[in-house]
Amino acid sequence: MPSSPARAPFKAVVFDAYGTLFDVHSVASLAEQLWPGRGDSLSHAWRAKQLEYSWLRTMSGRYKPFWDVTRDALRHAAARLGLPLDAARETRLMNQYASLSAFPENLDALRALKSAGLPLGILTNGNRAMIDVSIRSAGMDGLFDHVLSSEQVEAFKTVDRIYALGPATFGCPARRILFVSSNGWDAVASRWYGYTSFWINRGGLPPEHLDTEPDHTGRLLTDVVAVATARP
Ligand code: LAC
Repeated sequence: MPSSPARAPFKAVVFDAYGTLFDVHSVASLAEQLWPGRGDSLSHAWRAKQLEYSWLRTMSGRYKPFWDVTRDALRHAAARLGLPLDAARETRLMNQYASLSAFPENLDALRALKSAGLPLGILTNGNRAMIDVSIRSAGMDGLFDHVLSSEQVEAFKTVDRIYALGPATFGCPARRILFVSSNGWDAVASRWYGYTSFWINRGGLPPEHLDTEPDHTGRLLTDVVAVATARP
């Protein structure tokens, strides 16, 4: 774990949504029922294409809501893998995406941060309608003070204007916000913007080679609590 610079207490903790709070690969079990033996491949190809489209659309100024980007990515990933995707299967998979499972430790971690008096937020590529359904279905209602969405700036991570929503909303410098993501690239890019970043490396993945490391690394969302509540 990289050492962290001297830090004042955090003013807020902000979370990435997909992959961090909600397990995007929990759709794999439905995909596995639809196409036995191919669930994992579909789930990974779908996620990779979803992110690729989000980056391409942002680079070329062609925003559309993340829900639609997600459906486009599903169509491409299924076709690429030769998996027949009729309207009924597409609807089932998209509905499953709307109600992704939360990682098991997440509610405890969020409640511990909340009881420590820290304002909490989500900063996500997801559009508001999509994220609101996910929050409700994960039982996370009432835990977040602010939900910040790509919809507000019509651009996806990693552009500055989406990360800028955090300090603007919480009214403090980015460095005083602990930004938590299980996406290694998001943990790095949020630090580029100026946040103190925490990478939840659930899969034991190698670090990204982007010339910057996250400020902190852990395996579970509960690992965030000690860092977020530490006093200098
Ligand atoms: C999000 C994507 C990166 O929630 O998972 O912003």
